[in-house]
Amino acid sequence: MHKFPKDFLWGASTSAYQIEGAINQGGKVPSIMDRFDERDSYPKGITGFKVASDHYNKWREDVSMMAEMGFKSYRFSISWPRIIKNVKGDVNEEGIKFYSDLIDELLKNNIQPVVTMLHFDTPDFIDEIGGIDSHDFGKLFEHYAKVLFENFGSRVKWWLTINELNMFAIAGQIIGVISEKSQATKWQIMHNLNVAQARAIRLCKKMLPDAKIGPAPNIASVYPASSKPEDYQAKLNFDQLRNWIFLDIVCFGDYSNWFKNFLKSINQEIDITAEEKEILKDSKPDFIAFNYYTTMTVANITMEEYLESKNQPADQQSKLVIPGIGKSVKNENLEKTQFGWEIDPLGFKNTLKEVWDRYKLPIMITENGIGARDVLTKDNKIHDDYRIEYYQKHISSMANAIADGVEMIGYMPWSAIDLVSTHEGISKRYGFVYVNRDEDDEKDMKRYRKDSFFWYKDLIKNNGENI
Ligand code: BG6
Repeated sequence: MHKFPKDFLWGASTSAYQIEGAINQGGKVPSIMDRFDERDSYPKGITGFKVASDHYNKWREDVSMMAEMGFKSYRFSISWPRIIKNVKGDVNEEGIKFYSDLIDELLKNNIQPVVTMLHFDTPDFIDEIGGIDSHDFGKLFEHYAKVLFENFGSRVKWWLTINELNMFAIAGQIIGVISEKSQATKWQIMHNLNVAQARAIRLCKKMLPDAKIGPAPNIASVYPASSKPEDYQAKLNFDQLRNWIFLDIVCFGDYSNWFKNFLKSINQEIDITAEEKEILKDSKPDFIAFNYYTTMTVANITMEEYLESKNQPADQQSKLVIPGIGKSVKNENLEKTQFGWEIDPLGFKNTLKEVWDRYKLPIMITENGIGARDVLTKDNKIHDDYRIEYYQKHISSMANAIADGVEMIGYMPWSAIDLVSTHEGISKRYGFVYVNRDEDDEKDMKRYRKDSFFWYKDLIKNNGENI
């Protein structure tokens, strides 16, 4: 029998721009994601985010399905451009009401809201101060955080700062989070986001002493491609650049010497003000949330290989190349999803253990899941046994990590209901609930329970003991 803590937060996740749609409704101002599908870098033939799963208009029905599954928690993001109207910081009361009603409905159903403050959809008005390139970005974010804490702080205990801050630096172009106008290095952007995150944590501690706040990067154990010392060195360096630099800064308050030297070696040192140094030191999180999809395997890289790989598209989980450091390679031991992401449940346990050993802070999983081309049968069923198998293995692995001493708060896989993938459309489905639409036809948006819906419901009812 596996033992999960009594009050373990079973639930699932979504993000505003991938689920809500209604980009011009309710006083929302434009965000970088609203026109992502109009950019040359967005793949052709798949939907963008204008309508998404129409959650903005169907949220009550969606919450009722979460309640039916027995969710203890629901992780969603608040859309900054729905809350703040302009660079002066004026508040959109309609946006406040939307999330306020959502939070009330969740609490009414005994579902704890877990709120991500920013999940990729920065408002366009940040361009007026120079966007994420600017040191002032953090000040705008802090103002937005203050509005969130004032309006929702008495009802929301769990806060997440910035979703996958590390992916802004690692896969920023492919997920569309970096403006075409941006001139700063990815490391400066990362730093400005780190400062924004630290400001939010500091403010949260001041305004909401009983709340809990943490970062939510995408973390993955890294394997060396072989036992060659050069590959092991690539592994250690990838550990740093993909994982630890993003958690060290928020947990320890400074960048590591290795990272500072790396930046010097590539002439991309970060500009850090004295005030920022203080802010970073003074903002420890209460827990670590992270998203886990799979592990990564890396090999040393030669300059020729780097030049050859330059035009190959990378995403959050694959084909990453870092000059002078290494490249990610296929792991022959792992199966892949239909979308080419490797599946590694044992890697999940090991990643949990690594994070716990390094930071000794309780862990919340805020994403984990399998993107698949689900099929709606004639009798409106979705037989997603592959998803059940994926969850079965990953949750078992998490139980083993707990048995090994990892302290865990909750598990909120991706995603509660179908939504639009970051760059692979609605056909890459993740939900427990099927949304009846496809890339070019919005159909009736009807919701159907997948087989995994019933499986997860049963698992939650048994607090994971039947895994
Ligand atoms: C994470 C993001 O990178 O992975 C989500 O936080 C995203 O926004 C999820 O949807 C799955 O990735 P994708 O690219 O398949 O949508």
